[in-house]
Amino acid sequence: MEILKINNLNKTYTGKVSYKALKDINLSIQEGDFVAVMGPSGSGKSTLLNIISTIDMPTSGEVIINSKNPHELKGQALSNFRRNELGFVFQNFNLLDTLTIGENIVLPLTLEGISISEMDKRLEKIAKDLSIENILNKRTFEISGGQAQRAAVARAVINNPSILLADEPTGNLDSKATNDVMKIFEHLNTNNNVTTLMVTHEPYTASFCKKVVFIKDGEIYKEIHKSSSNEEFYEEILKVVAHIGGAR
Ligand SMILES: Nc1ncnc2c1ncn2[C@@H]1O[C@H](COP(=O)(O)OP(=O)(O)OP(=O)(O)O)[C@@H](O)[C@H]1O
Ligand SMILES: [Mg+2]
Repeated sequence: MEILKINNLNKTYTGKVSYKALKDINLSIQEGDFVAVMGPSGSGKSTLLNIISTIDMPTSGEVIINSKNPHELKGQALSNFRRNELGFVFQNFNLLDTLTIGENIVLPLTLEGISISEMDKRLEKIAKDLSIENILNKRTFEISGGQAQRAAVARAVINNPSILLADEPTGNLDSKATNDVMKIFEHLNTNNNVTTLMVTHEPYTASFCKKVVFIKDGEIYKEIHKSSSNEEFYEEILKVVAHIGGAR
């Protein structure tokens, strides 16, 4: 089943000078896909993700998620769409310091009027699934970056979104924490069939994905698929990155 379809998407930022950040992007993401978007700085990766996640509007073209065009929705319908269809993970975790980790994770559910017992049940399941049971009662300043990002991923998927979106989810993490967090994304994709699209600069992070879409100067440059191990995929990714630039 097709979860995300992007048709002839263009984005021009207008201002003192106008800038064409995305040019005629076409992309199709199927249920169960696990895709990284890579490309040099300024190539339009965040712009693309922001339009998919409804933070920004396209100049022309359309985004269809689960047969709906979110850019045609307004107000409550748009809020409901975001809550039901999208999960989002940010580079800097975006957990609230005033809440425990467990409270942060169930936050999306509290907005839906779900009963406390149901919330506890879902929290217990996801925490066990992602091996973060031991940090649920801690605060943000008592956990590591890797733990914080794993909690943020738990929060992003607790609603069972149609698609999990992430912008540089390992951008603030060291290699050990990167590995822990990517294992979680991999686990969710493999075992729970969570459709995932992430932007990353890091070939190592991208090597966990099943497919990498490279963009350059606002256009799709190339798409490569994993055919064997993460290690071999990593080597393939490095080759393309060496060609077009984009790793830090
Ligand atoms: N709000 C804006 N107004 C004007 N231009 C913008 C705006 N946001 C981004 N741009 C420009 O659009 C282009 C694409 O930016 P974008 O943030 O999508 O790049 P990126 O691929 O995510 O880069 P990075 O890897 O550095 O995060 C850049 O040239 C940027 O300067
Ligand atoms: Mg960016």
